Parts: sequence; C-alpha cells; structure tokens
Amino acid sequence: MSKKNIDIVIGTRPEAIKMAPVILELKGRSDFDVRVIATGQHTDMLVQALDYFSIKADVNLGIMRERQSLDYITSSVMEGVGRTLDENKPDGVLVHGDTTTTFAASIAAFYRKIPVGHVEAGLRSWNMHLPFPEEMNRVLTDRIARWWFAPTELAKENLVKEGTRPEAIYVTGNTVVDALFTTIRAKGTPKAECVASLRKDMPFLLVTAHRRESWGKPLEDICSALLDILEKYPAYGALVPMHKNPAVRETMREILGGNERIVLCDPLDYPDFVWAIDNCKLILSDSGGVQEEASALGKPVLILRDVTERPEALEHGSGLLVGTKRERIISAAYELLSDSEAYRRVQARCEGNPFGDGQASRRIADILSVDLA
Ligand code: UD1
Ligand code: UDP
Repeated sequence: MSKKNIDIVIGTRPEAIKMAPVILELKGRSDFDVRVIATGQHTDMLVQALDYFSIKADVNLGIMRERQSLDYITSSVMEGVGRTLDENKPDGVLVHGDTTTTFAASIAAFYRKIPVGHVEAGLRSWNMHLPFPEEMNRVLTDRIARWWFAPTELAKENLVKEGTRPEAIYVTGNTVVDALFTTIRAKGTPKAECVASLRKDMPFLLVTAHRRESWGKPLEDICSALLDILEKYPAYGALVPMHKNPAVRETMREILGGNERIVLCDPLDYPDFVWAIDNCKLILSDSGGVQEEASALGKPVLILRDVTERPEALEHGSGLLVGTKRERIISAAYELLSDSEAYRRVQARCEGNPFGDGQASRRIADILSVDLA
C-alpha cells in the first residue's frame, strides 16, 4: 500500500499547539507521509510553540509583517500555500481552527481539488463580527472541508444545522486537551525568568488579551480593571504574558507598566504557561484556547468577550462571560476573590472535561487511515 501524503498547514501559536499532537500522531504511523507547512503568519510565537514539541516545519513561508492587514495575510497565504501544494500534490490537507491562515490555505486546496480536513470544526458564535474575523474564517473553512473533526457534540450540531451531512462529521474531542495532558504529565517546573520572579507567597491572576475587536478602548478597560482589582486586593499579583502584537503591547505597557505587583512579560513557552494556568488563582482572558485549557484543569476564567463560541466552558462552570466593560470585570473578580464560598462553588461545578479526553489526535489519524486507504 502506498503512503498517503498529508500537508498540515499552520500559521499562528494556537494552530501550532493544537496541531502538534496531530502532526506527531500522523508522523508516528507508517501509512502517512506528513509535511508541515508553516505560513509564518506568526514568526516567533509559532516557532516557540513548535520547538516545545520538537517539530520543525518542512516549509516556512515567512509571510509575517508588522501590523499586517487581513487582505495581506489572505493573499500571501493563498499564493504561498498554493505554490507548495502544486509542488507536493498531497492527497489531503489539514487545517486548524479559525485563523486567516486556516481559511486561505483551505481555499488554496479547494482550487486544486485537494480534500481538506478541518480540525476544530463547527465552533460558532452565530455573530459574524465576534470574534472578528474568526467566525467568518470558520464558517468558510467548514464550507470547503471534506472531513469535519468536531471537538464536541455541540460543534457537530452546529454543522448539521448548516446542512453538513452528519455521517461526515466526527466528534473527536479537542486536540488542545491532548497537548495539555502530555505537557502536564511531563511535570516541568517553569523556566522563564519572569515566572521565577513571581513571589512565592503571593497568589496571582493570569491575564491574556489579544483579540482584534478588543484593540483600543476595550483593552484599555481590561487593563484598568486589573489595576482596580489589584488595588482592592493587595495580597495579589498578576502575570501578564503579552502577545507580540504591538497594538496590544503598547496599551498594556502604557497602563500596566511600572506596577510592582504586575509581571509584564513576553509570551511564555507552552509548558510555563500551562504551569501558570495550574497555579494561578484566577484567569482573565479573551483567548479561545485558554478557555478550553482552564476548563480542562477546572480553573475559573473570566472570559473577556461579549460572546463565546465555546459555550461548553460556561455550562461546565469554569468559564464566566464578563465582556470587556471595566465595572463588569471588576465585580466578577471581586465576587470570586472576596467570597471563598463563591470560588469553591465555581470549582465544585466543574465536573469532567467538556473539551475531550486527550485522544482526539488518535481518532483523527484513525479516520484518515480508513478514508484515504
Ligand atoms: C492571530 C489570528 C487570531 C488568533 C491569534 C492567536 C487572524 C486574522 N488572527 O491574531 O485568530 O487568535 O493569531 O494568537 O488570523 N506579531 C509578532 N510576532 C509574532 C506574532 C505576531 O511580531 O510572533 C505581531 C506582528 O506585528 C503582526 C501582529 O502581531 O502583524 C498581528 O498578528 P496577526 O497574526 O495578524 O494577528 P493576531 O492578533 O496575532
Ligand atoms: N499560550 C502560550 N504562551 C502564552 C500565552 C498562551 O503558550 O504566553 C498558549 C495557550 O496555552 C493556548 C494558546 O497559546 O494553548 C492560545 O493562543 P492565543 O491566545 O494566542 O490564541 P487563541 O486561542 O485565542 O486563538
């Protein structure tokens, strides 16, 4: 039996982390030849994530520019990925999630009639502008896909509602849980200096924010809310690994810089970040992946968004949707930090893990093995 060629396209940090277990699983099997195509939509953050999993991209298109536009990412990924697909002529292409790399690589594959597998298919906020442009990227990628790897039953239902054939949708769990469990099992101690600089006796909040729709005033409000929370709770500190995007860093530095209880730092290596999730008191984040990881570890997370395409986190109890308004963030944080009963109630509600069991990559590989044979 001849090996099947699979090209896996990734562009940003979360795609690298969530596709790493799939890449390693497929590479470990004898029936696939796997090629990793990095678009380089992110430069350092992508390589930082891949390095931890000891994965080296076979091709890196290196497209990133400072403050790149959506038009630029879309056209350069489409052209660059199209070129590499013409060279390799794979039997299938895998993409992940909802970034512009995901959508542009999918359409490039479609133009060549190469089937696309969408990992993390079917997430929906049902609002095309939130998150922006991710909701549209997901919807378009799901129109193009040939295999839908839905992380949850709800994601499958969303796809069925849109007319996708149920027999072609596979509920696999989210591969982020595979990555998380492997990392937790490795039981590493944090290596980053900024994490080591956290006072051992000071409980801390973990804060991340990067979404396009939060740039400007919403992000300023998030930062001001954090200052208010720390002022009210002098026993607490905060760890803020800043996304590399200058639009985010400038605001964070301006408002949070100089506060001696706030550690502002570069993006953490994945195991250090997982350590921080596990060891912090509370998370404030607008990240998609962090909502899933917090749920998997039963850690309360204030979701800094108006809607989430991961309602499973809310139902599970770990996620509380608070938006980006200063007062709302503060009151939610106060409730959890001042009332240990409220905090315990949130933790007690968190039963099981709505996002998977750590076996998603194995399931995806099994399905591709059968379908491409
Ligand atoms: C992108 C994705 C978003 C995803 C996020 C994960 C799109 C449109 N957005 O958003 O869905 O949630 O990644 O983090 O696909 N930069 C660096 N170094 C890096 C990475 C980024 O300097 O390693 C800077 C560059 O100036 C770049 C800017 O950040 O132009 C924005 O990067 P971009 O990928 O366009 O948007 P993100 O906000 O990172
Ligand atoms: N992450 C990381 N280092 C950090 C911050 C986040 O490794 O300093 C990881 C996090 O564990 C999660 C992923 O990055 O797996 C989330 O990426 P991001 O928030 O950039 O994107 P989103 O999930 O919102 O698309």
